[in-house]
Amino acid sequence: MPNDLRKLPVLQQHFDRVVVLTGAGISAESGVATFRDSGGLWEGHRIEEVATPEGFNADPQKVHQFYNARRRQLSEVEPNPAHLALAHFEQNHPSRLTLITQNVDDLHERAGSNCVLHMHGELRSALCQSCEVKIRHLGDLTVTDICSNCSNPTLRPDIVWFGEMPYFLDEITEALITCDLLIAVGTSAQVYPAAGFVQTARESGATTVEVNLEPTAASHWFDLSVIGPASIKLPELLSSLSA
Ligand code: OAD
Repeated sequence: MPNDLRKLPVLQQHFDRVVVLTGAGISAESGVATFRDSGGLWEGHRIEEVATPEGFNADPQKVHQFYNARRRQLSEVEPNPAHLALAHFEQNHPSRLTLITQNVDDLHERAGSNCVLHMHGELRSALCQSCEVKIRHLGDLTVTDICSNCSNPTLRPDIVWFGEMPYFLDEITEALITCDLLIAVGTSAQVYPAAGFVQTARESGATTVEVNLEPTAASHWFDLSVIGPASIKLPELLSSLSA
């Protein structure tokens, strides 16, 4: 692959509507553990216990502890050049980018991205199970915390767990079927529906590019696989689209 991505035939055209899907790999170089790589988040934790509604009902304190640790870690990490490049692209090309993330960290926002579709929820948000209001929440959550809207002690992490419906699916589908370029960055393509976004975009005629340290289960769906760290490869890729 040439060093200058602009020379690749697949990137020669102008793209009006760009969708970027990010996964845990984009935050890995900021120091946030991925889910499935060695040393990842699920190591030492059973998904059923900490990432399902049933797990939360069985032991809410344990689940709060798991996400409290993740939330605390956010104050120790910073956005990296991949997050910054996306924010820069949004600022320079307003209305050209739809940014979808599977990540529950806030590194896109802290890099300066203003419009981020957090399809799997956000660590710095709590969801009331009684009144369904979402409340910005920066500290630890406990089983006795009270909802500021309805006063019930029924707050849970605002995370989309396995078996639950991801957020923003209507907006995401609309963006996928109308985009002319989909870029998937740092996702292992193992969790649906996000793993199927490439097929939707491709069937609608979009060019599809992935950026990852290694080939993924979905690599054959992409027109181009850019292998390397997101902090280097994504800024290169986005700047090659800037014209
Ligand atoms: P995974 O942990 O499954 O995959 C991370 C991907 O990032 C892997 O393919 C790595 O090769 C790649 N990667 C790691 N470091 C990278 C780097 N510096 N540059 C580029 N790529 C890198 O994470 P996701 O695919 O995001 O859902 O996982 C999807 C969902 O699974 C998560 O949102 C989470 C989990 O269940 C919920 O919590 C609801």
